[in-house]
Amino acid sequence: MQLPPLSLYVHIPWCVQKCPYCDFNSHAQRGVIPEQEYITHLLRDLDADLRYVQNRTLHSIFIGGGTPSLFSADSIALLLSRIREKVPFAPNIEITLEANPGTAESERFKGYAHAGVTRLSMGIQSFDDDKLRHLGRIHNSQEAKAAVDMAKASGVHSFNLDLMHGLPNQTPAQALDDLRQAIALAPPHLSWYQLTIEPNTQFASRPPILPDDDDLWAIFEQGNQLLTKYGYQQYETSAYAKPHFQCQHNLNYWRFGDYLGIGCGAHGKVSFPAGDIIRYSKTKHPKGYLQGNYLYQQSAVEASERAFEFFMNRFRLLEPCPKHEFEQFTGLDCAQVAGVLAQAADKGWVNITPHAWQLSTQGALFLNEVLQLFLPE
Ligand SMILES: C[S@@+](CC[C@H](N)C(=O)[O-])C[C@H]1O[C@@H](n2cnc3c(N)ncnc32)[C@H](O)[C@@H]1O
Ligand code: SF4
Repeated sequence: MQLPPLSLYVHIPWCVQKCPYCDFNSHAQRGVIPEQEYITHLLRDLDADLRYVQNRTLHSIFIGGGTPSLFSADSIALLLSRIREKVPFAPNIEITLEANPGTAESERFKGYAHAGVTRLSMGIQSFDDDKLRHLGRIHNSQEAKAAVDMAKASGVHSFNLDLMHGLPNQTPAQALDDLRQAIALAPPHLSWYQLTIEPNTQFASRPPILPDDDDLWAIFEQGNQLLTKYGYQQYETSAYAKPHFQCQHNLNYWRFGDYLGIGCGAHGKVSFPAGDIIRYSKTKHPKGYLQGNYLYQQSAVEASERAFEFFMNRFRLLEPCPKHEFEQFTGLDCAQVAGVLAQAADKGWVNITPHAWQLSTQGALFLNEVLQLFLPE
């Protein structure tokens, strides 16, 4: 089995404060963050995963959180240079770092670029100051725009803006105004998420009033048109990019590539030449992680689960899926899913060509039903 490309995810678990909608593994910072100590642990954690590299180079790195921009440029430079000593980087490696506009500083952003970061991803969410307050954000819209200017001047190759829609009491006009303000800043990549109420968040215990389904549909339809008009191509449910600026790291997840995960709660997935695939996750809470307990659980991805897992990721992408990648990345034979895909094609959910499968527009609306077809009996 030829191994898939390899990426690395690095999790930084601290934020200035916890946003009421967020269920990411992030903790409000209390006192000084043990930055140096955490980096030492990240590198030891990586050492234990080096056997999974299997002579590959790193195709992308994503430093996510939490709020990685709480870390100094020197810390990120040290982290990246040590990682590079352990695993060679592919020549055109993409290195993303997530930044909160409330923690943006122009020298720090330049330092990240100097350290090798090629892409900054900024959590903007909205440009409406009332909405930002309601979302518990630590910045206003002016600070968000200033952070974007800093990203542009920092020397990174690309940047992303995270924007959410379907916010509490948001009208379609307000959501589209947010989108217009984002587009005016000319980001090469835009992640446009519909707000979801996640269990165990403040919003779940005290639910805000969200726009109704008609308004949500109007926001999506008109927003999608606006993004298309300005040259953004939707390549995943919430991901839009100018040509050649798709996020390589996320593409590797959705194409069922391999990834190592280091840091609190990080996940990994690794294939082996003999055909085995494993997944693992790391200790979630900083306390245990900082005691040196990195691995939390590990299990095999059984052959019976692989078709479902593959298509659950792959059909998030609007691009066609080459059949040979299914065989290469799952170790299964196309014949094993031919019947199920023919069934999906009969319902108009999937288009089949001699070399590829592609979810149809209709299929995208019935994604759960499509995926049910691949569940093991
Ligand atoms: C890990 S956070 C990004 C970086 C940074 N922590 C920040 O918030 O500025 C990833 C993104 O997921 C989105 N997100 C988080 N919780 C969400 C929710 N409940 N519904 C929709 N999008 C959400 C936000 O747009 C957020 O910027
Ligand atoms: S949305 Fe970002 S800043 Fe807010 S708690 Fe989650 S990870 Fe932290």
